[in-house]
Amino acid sequence: MTLTLTDELSAIVGAAFAKAGLDPALGRVRPSDRPDLAPFQCNGPLAAAKAAKKNPRALAETVAGGLKAHPAFESVAVAGPGFINLTLRDAFLAEKLDALAGDSGCGGWRKDEAETIVIDYGGPNVAKPLHVGHLRSAIIGESLKRLFRFAGDAVYADVHLGDWGLPMGQLIAELRRERPDLPFFDPAFDGPYPEKPVVALEDLERLYPQASAACKADPARAEEARQATAELQAGRAGYRALWRQFVEVSRAAIEREYADLGVSFDWWKGESDADPFIPELAQMLRAQGLTEISDGAEIIRVAREGDAREVPPLILFKSDGSVLYGTTDLATILERKRAVDPARILYVVDQRQALHFEQVFRAADRAGLFPLDRLEHLGFGTMNGKDGRPFKTREGGVLKLRDLIDMVDARARERLAEGGLAEGYPEEEVADIARKVGVAALKFADLSSPRTTDYVFDLDRFMAFEGRTGPYLLYASVRIRSVLRKAAERGAGAPGPIRIVAPEERDLALALLAFGDATRLAFEKRMPHFLCEHAFGLAQAFSKFYAACRIADESDAATRASRLSLAAAVGRQLDRALDLLGIAVPERM
Ligand code: ARG
Repeated sequence: MTLTLTDELSAIVGAAFAKAGLDPALGRVRPSDRPDLAPFQCNGPLAAAKAAKKNPRALAETVAGGLKAHPAFESVAVAGPGFINLTLRDAFLAEKLDALAGDSGCGGWRKDEAETIVIDYGGPNVAKPLHVGHLRSAIIGESLKRLFRFAGDAVYADVHLGDWGLPMGQLIAELRRERPDLPFFDPAFDGPYPEKPVVALEDLERLYPQASAACKADPARAEEARQATAELQAGRAGYRALWRQFVEVSRAAIEREYADLGVSFDWWKGESDADPFIPELAQMLRAQGLTEISDGAEIIRVAREGDAREVPPLILFKSDGSVLYGTTDLATILERKRAVDPARILYVVDQRQALHFEQVFRAADRAGLFPLDRLEHLGFGTMNGKDGRPFKTREGGVLKLRDLIDMVDARARERLAEGGLAEGYPEEEVADIARKVGVAALKFADLSSPRTTDYVFDLDRFMAFEGRTGPYLLYASVRIRSVLRKAAERGAGAPGPIRIVAPEERDLALALLAFGDATRLAFEKRMPHFLCEHAFGLAQAFSKFYAACRIADESDAATRASRLSLAAAVGRQLDRALDLLGIAVPERM
């Protein structure tokens, strides 16, 4: 495992605590609340004094006395009722930076023991266009996938396509009304299967809303759809053949849209893939006496004493034998266990599905299928419009992801033109840069607030080249690259060992060395916004450094070589952080 900077400092301070006869765990060092006084602090003497019934300031003085000679510290000062403020020595920072510059992980945190994990995100549904509601899951899930992989885990990303429920039966029933002539409706159908799907994406996008409206308005139509669903799930050949075409057509479209956003998956599995595991699942639950019949349905109770809100039973089978969302999620756990035996499964799904996951996780735990603490629902808030309600189009409809991508592309092009960027570049490159700027704007805005909070969609703000935005960070990265390129062209020489001369270099050093803690925090909390904060802080520190310090035209050769190393390390780390956010950087802008 790599130690983060605060881990390392905590070990040093912890040893001084131990030497003073105190609990070394209390020597925890953290970034200071008052960075103007010192970059790090330790509050441990307060707790230690309480435990030992001693004076905290006196204790702090004792510990501080033991630290003064340590080569890591420039100053160790007791402040307030008994904090220890710590300032690091430039030579210590320089040594750490040299190591960071040579680290393939750019100083990011890696874990000790790799786990195999499955991350379930995206969750699009067949025949329904992707909309902005699917955006957050895809963006957050993609970032977590990259972060977990970076930390060392073996990660399987699964899109978990919604391809098995009532909507499939609704589509079949609707199509039967429109095209009763199709061979698939013959109860005796058993091939041949069509070479090309008989439905197109536009058919599905038209049929589905039509079907769902009809089912809402007319109980007879709802009954038809219910029956078609049950027959599909029971294996009726013509229905299966049709359904396969729905999935194929939808999937192709979904894959394209995700690719445009730089989102990808290892598994394109769906709810239907869990179907073969349902008999075994049912068997497992019944053998343990966990199921019961209620109103003709077979259920499993998951309420617990002391529940703050009612957790209703999970319905395994409806009275017609068809299965529901909860059933497929449970069977999917079994499927994943058989496939890769993961240590954990992470679900990046809208917060509003919390109750569903509570039911599924409890049922899995009761059944001995998967321990509760290793199933994690990583919920997220909604993307709202400026009126504070879930984002809608101007006409009040749900915004399709395709339209959003087009809108963002167009706006990014405008922005590039306004900023005089990418001028005179070949058209293909301009399109690529615009796409990257747009995706960076969207992703950074989405990821930079804590995942669980809602945020307001404001494309103008997201697209700005100044402030906490994706485009600003892309611009920062591209600029570092161009600084280094120009330095090379001017024969500025090779990068060399890092030495800290100016205060801006010290601040930049601290920003770089914070990457270990940022990656660790983001990983442990499953919160990419810590990476966003880091990237932004780093870019800002670089821009202050760049304003204050000469690089290529610095006359002192050793300082010049050091600054070239520093700039290169920042460029690499910034790109790495952006990559962990799922943001790609153009070569130039
Ligand atoms: N398809 C579902 C929806 O649109 C999301 C699926 C999330 N993943 C899961 N394993 N349930 O709501």
